[in-house]
Amino acid sequence: MVAREIVPDVYSVGVIDWDRTVFDELMHLASGTSYNAYVVRGSEKTALIDTADPHFEEAYISNLVRVGLTSVDYIIVNHAEQDHSGLLPLALELFPHAKVVTTEKGRDLCCILHHILPERFVVVGDGDTLSLGNKTLTFLSTPWVHWPETMMTYLEEDKILFSCDFLGAHIASSDLYADDSCKFWMAARQYYAEIMQPFRAKVREHTARVRSLGPAMIAPSHGPVHRSPAGILDAYEEWSSDEVKNFVLIPYVSMHGSTREMVDRLVDLLIERGIDVRPYDLGRVEPGAIAYDLIDAATIILGAPTMLFGPHPKAAYIAFITNILKPKAKWIGVIGSYGWGTKTIEDLTGMLGRVDAELLEPVYIKGKPDEETNIALARLAAEIYKRHADHSLV
Ligand code: FEO
Repeated sequence: MVAREIVPDVYSVGVIDWDRTVFDELMHLASGTSYNAYVVRGSEKTALIDTADPHFEEAYISNLVRVGLTSVDYIIVNHAEQDHSGLLPLALELFPHAKVVTTEKGRDLCCILHHILPERFVVVGDGDTLSLGNKTLTFLSTPWVHWPETMMTYLEEDKILFSCDFLGAHIASSDLYADDSCKFWMAARQYYAEIMQPFRAKVREHTARVRSLGPAMIAPSHGPVHRSPAGILDAYEEWSSDEVKNFVLIPYVSMHGSTREMVDRLVDLLIERGIDVRPYDLGRVEPGAIAYDLIDAATIILGAPTMLFGPHPKAAYIAFITNILKPKAKWIGVIGSYGWGTKTIEDLTGMLGRVDAELLEPVYIKGKPDEETNIALARLAAEIYKRHADHSLV
């Protein structure tokens, strides 16, 4: 691990986790991640911004030593989740006179997550400032990106915004600064899809605020630092907007081929109508691939056979994930096949209550698809086309 100077007296002291493959025991990480932390050394006081994942104690301390950190006056906690606050107890041991600076909710969470005494905290609110001498930190209350306590810290003199999770990316890279590579943008979009997507209204609000601030750099807590913030702000504006694309996402599972046959037929019908379509076989792909495309799909069609009396568990799992990610899709539907009885439609639509989309007429058949099924699928494709066309998507 290395510590690196960003501008004079501002250092990146976080750690790179090259090997992490899953986050929250749910999200697949294609390229590891990093837990960024920063030191801001003023003429009178020194602040440490965020800590790191608790598994990286040695690397984190090494970086603090490398920048010659012998005393810290303030430890800024932008976000209480453990991948950033996990080494807070250690930092408080190393710097026994340091105060923890965070929001009221941040303090409460740190107290319950790490059993830190309340007297170690200084609570700050939106717009509060902290002077380090020749450097000034301003705190921005930015709840729900993605916990209720999240805030950002702005270093006024150097115009650096420490945005914590917001505007970050799960990617392990030796590059301190973000480049324009496909790999970076895919990681940034995946991260948005899985972490920020459910909070679109807040994302829009905070993105606008960050833009009006005009930072020269944005230093998040995962992934590289943005030296040209416009790119990531443009992307967040687009992803969090209400705009959807002429695109149908079809996650499906098929046990004996009938649902697969229906999916194949619908895919062809949509392509014939000039609609982009992407089927995902749930037996083969990570849910993350679907989350990535949920960002701007206008329509979601779940392909779900009945297993016993309800939806196949893999389809139910994707319905559950879709429900918590709250995509902006405008239309949603279910197709599939059953053998002797089914509650699949009721079960799946019941699981999608947080998705604000119109339910299209399902195509749910008994047994193997036949000509009548093809007619029903053609009707569904025509309905999708009509809705896309009415919204000027086609
Ligand atoms: Fe990277 Fe919400 O923690």
